[in-house]
Amino acid sequence: MSLHIDANKNDIADAVLLPGDPLRAKWIAETFLENAVCYNKVRGMFGYTGNYKDKRVSVQGSGMGIPSALIYYHELIKEYGVKTLIRVGTAGSYQKHIGLKDIVFAMSASTTSGINKKQFGFGSYAPTADFDLLIKAAEYATKNNIAFNAGNVLSSDQFYSEDPDAYKKWAKSGVLCAEMEAAGLYTIASKNNVQALAILTISDSLVSNTACSAEERENTFTKMVEIALNII
Ligand code: HPA
Repeated sequence: MSLHIDANKNDIADAVLLPGDPLRAKWIAETFLENAVCYNKVRGMFGYTGNYKDKRVSVQGSGMGIPSALIYYHELIKEYGVKTLIRVGTAGSYQKHIGLKDIVFAMSASTTSGINKKQFGFGSYAPTADFDLLIKAAEYATKNNIAFNAGNVLSSDQFYSEDPDAYKKWAKSGVLCAEMEAAGLYTIASKNNVQALAILTISDSLVSNTACSAEERENTFTKMVEIALNII
């Protein structure tokens, strides 16, 4: 086992879906996977492996924010040899044309996190999705009439901002929405030469000050998970 994941090497598949919420991981395993087995309960951060259309797939909760998520991304890549990591999560819209329940593919992830600051000094690193996964996601969604947006997202270190207008400077530069993990995922995946993509569903909007109901969240989560499972 690794420090935060109590599994044997072969318990985890080469491809892993990564919701922030561990209960969402359980829900995905129970709803979409056949013969799902729970391999991790450490800190309540559930991980499962099962089959989807004859493919072996794992789903692992990662917690909220880059510091928590990087623990799981790191151990999955370095200790368990995971090659494909797909985050499935929620985000807050920064743009008028992106509404509740819309799906966003994060092509790149700006961030307020300091993870890359020290390493590149004055330069700023651009965490970027894996092109193959992104293309596959776009093709699958198009073929199945699932609307989506693709572009730059913000991986924020703060869910709650003291300044309700702080998001506008990002919005003006074309950032589509905010979440809290993609920049960490893309950075560690690129460094380790593995594939990563963040697929997001809009759960709230900073533009209209509205949020999805629990039921709406579940329905749209289904589409996002369907895309993720079909591109691995
Ligand atoms: N900000 C950051 N992360 C989020 C948000 C948000 O508005 N909504 C869902 N995840």
